[in-house]
Amino acid sequence: MSEFASKVIVITGASSGIGAATAKELSKQGALLSLTGRNKERLAQVADECKNLGAKDVLYVVGDLSKQDDMERIIKETAEKFGEIHVLVNNAGFAVISPIADVTLDEFDRCFNVNVRAVLYLTKLALPYLEKTKGNIVNISSFLSSMYTLPGFTIYTTTKAACDHITKSSALELAKNGVRVNAVNPAVVETNAYTNTGFSEEQSKAAYVEQAKLHPLNERNIKVEEVVDAILFLASDKATMITGNCLRVDGGRALTGQ
Ligand SMILES: NC(=O)c1ccc[n+]([C@@H]2O[C@H](COP(=O)([O-])OP(=O)(O)OC[C@H]3O[C@@H](n4cnc5c(N)ncnc54)[C@H](OP(=O)(O)O)[C@@H]3O)[C@@H](O)[C@H]2O)c1
Repeated sequence: MSEFASKVIVITGASSGIGAATAKELSKQGALLSLTGRNKERLAQVADECKNLGAKDVLYVVGDLSKQDDMERIIKETAEKFGEIHVLVNNAGFAVISPIADVTLDEFDRCFNVNVRAVLYLTKLALPYLEKTKGNIVNISSFLSSMYTLPGFTIYTTTKAACDHITKSSALELAKNGVRVNAVNPAVVETNAYTNTGFSEEQSKAAYVEQAKLHPLNERNIKVEEVVDAILFLASDKATMITGNCLRVDGGRALTGQ
């Protein structure tokens, strides 16, 4: 039996991409899932798929992580339904792609609210439950963070650098509570990320073809399952002495500087 069977796992950004794939894999392992995102239709669809794949139970809570009340409601409803939390996957996030000359404060605030502020606030809200279960947190950062950036990505890379720092800082502080905190830092994964950022389907496909060549290992993009494997490893008992790590899943991309 999987160690995740009957464990309560909260996944943000579960309506799409990496979050949805993580939810589906954990369903096959019999987890109890609390899924959240803004898009009710997509979230309900993922929740149904999870039930069909074997999740022990699935709660979905529609919410916008830029809103304090919604974050509080997500954790409250999870605790009311399941009574405990073993793992928090702070996955929701998005990229702003904009030259500095065109940056707006609205974009800056929107991106920081979801990619940084929500990571910290959900950590705080989940902490009383994670302390009791000696649970852990996995934050989804990016290979674009403190060590590596690209023109046009200043806001996004700064949010992910902050995400890495929250990971390390909370890992240190929460170690005494027996709560581990780690991050997974993927390179390019083919999800809805580009279309959710305003690209057309065609532009998104073309961008993924171009990006693939930039990963030294096999010159291909990262498969979503490869990111899910890293998330589940860090969340598992195989990683009991691993905390404060930012694990790149990037086919060596960050080593290239491009
Ligand atoms: N794909 C990549 O190449 C890549 C590479 C490195 C890192 N990442 C990171 O991986 C994470 C997942 O990305 P993905 O590729 O799976 O992208 P995706 O397919 O676009 O999914 C993003 C998820 O975040 C949720 N989300 C966005 N804004 C939200 C808000 N205000 N409130 C609540 N939920 C919100 C979306 O849900 P709703 O639309 O339903 O709200 C969606 O479920 C992100 O943190 C991203 O930065 C992705």
